[in-house]
Amino acid sequence: MVKPDGVQRGLVGEIISRFEKKGFKLTGLKLFRCPKELAQEHYKDLQSKPFFPKLIEYITSGPVVSMAWEGVGVVASARKLIGSTNPLQAEPGTIRGDLAVQTGRNIVHGSDSPENGKREIALWFKEGELCQWTPAQEPWLV
Ligand code: TYD
Repeated sequence: MVKPDGVQRGLVGEIISRFEKKGFKLTGLKLFRCPKELAQEHYKDLQSKPFFPKLIEYITSGPVVSMAWEGVGVVASARKLIGSTNPLQAEPGTIRGDLAVQTGRNIVHGSDSPENGKREIALWFKEGELCQWTPAQEPWLV
């Protein structure tokens, strides 16, 4: 998911591009404003943390772009592409390492396990919103 600050800063294309270039396949994409209940459910494991209220306020502060990506090892690889939670500790070359400076504004979310990936896709997408497709071998030829 591109978080509200990523959308506000015009980084949607840049973030999508990094996953595309790595070789993953986009199977779901939508821009919308996340309701409070969805944000709370999504981050329910963090509800006892002191930063939870601010996190919910931030995630619901403007539109987000939720994405579903498929590919070999996509969850672990996406975490690497995204970088550490604290952008100041994220390696250069990662999305957070290159484009963000604060944990509370770290521009992107990625599922931390395949199980959570499934759970989150079910939360963020409705029935029929995902699109299965096979990339053409030579898309420049008809
Ligand atoms: P977490 O799941 O630990 O990190 P990640 O997004 O890298 O999987 O935390 C979820 C989000 O909560 C994180 O992206 C930003 C926010 N957060 C804070 O605002 N302050 C904090 O101290 C932590 C650990 C996270």
